[in-house]
Amino acid sequence: MDKANALTAVLKRLNAGDDPAKVRAEAKQLLATISPADLAIAEQNLIDEGLSLEDLQALCDVHLEVLKDQVTQMKTSLPKGHIVATMVSEHEAILGFLDELDRVNRSIQAMSEYAPQAEEFARLSHIAEHLVETERHHQREEEVLFPELEKRGVHGPPTVMRAEHAELRPRKHALKQLCERGARMDFEDFKRQLAELAGFIVPTLREHIAKENNILYPTALQVIDDDTVWQRLKAACDEIGYCCFTPEA
Ligand SMILES: [Fe+2]
Ligand SMILES: [Fe+2]
Repeated sequence: MDKANALTAVLKRLNAGDDPAKVRAEAKQLLATISPADLAIAEQNLIDEGLSLEDLQALCDVHLEVLKDQVTQMKTSLPKGHIVATMVSEHEAILGFLDELDRVNRSIQAMSEYAPQAEEFARLSHIAEHLVETERHHQREEEVLFPELEKRGVHGPPTVMRAEHAELRPRKHALKQLCERGARMDFEDFKRQLAELAGFIVPTLREHIAKENNILYPTALQVIDDDTVWQRLKAACDEIGYCCFTPEA
């Protein structure tokens, strides 16, 4: 509750016109250690006191920055080649493909006819191939990391993540097939299917990655606290193999 009050006080200073960079830095520090319950209380206090939507938005942005910093910290604290560090790096690459898919989709939606020479179509095929490649990342999670969590009584997050992999899988393949058929299709139909697939894949996979980075991986690092287990998991991951975009450890 003290932290909730402290956060409320810091954020009220945004309204009072204090140096925004300074207020953000202080809010960031508090958010790094606040519990979800205290955060909810602070948000409610602010809403009750009439905080503007922009200020609440600023709070969310700062919170996202904190989460991002925590993921970076988690990654850099792990030894080179640790399977979770590799997965976080793969997530960074996947998020890049999703940004690009979002951009290319918008650009194609604005076109009135199929233009095979336009670079968007080559980019789209490239992105679709890479998204299908993410299957190997999901496979390492499902066959190596998740069972190890389940053995230790952590069932919820792996169940949700498996369900999301299953929802994404057919759509990633459908996107690749759509690219292959593109030239032979009615362009309006192509655009409609592209908008549908990108509209599902982009937000779903972004949120999926955020849940793994912020909840599932930190939980795994907490409950699997034996180096020899991590080495065994690394060998199992090596056996499955990596994605074409996995950075060198
Ligand atoms: Fe996953
Ligand atoms: Fe993942």
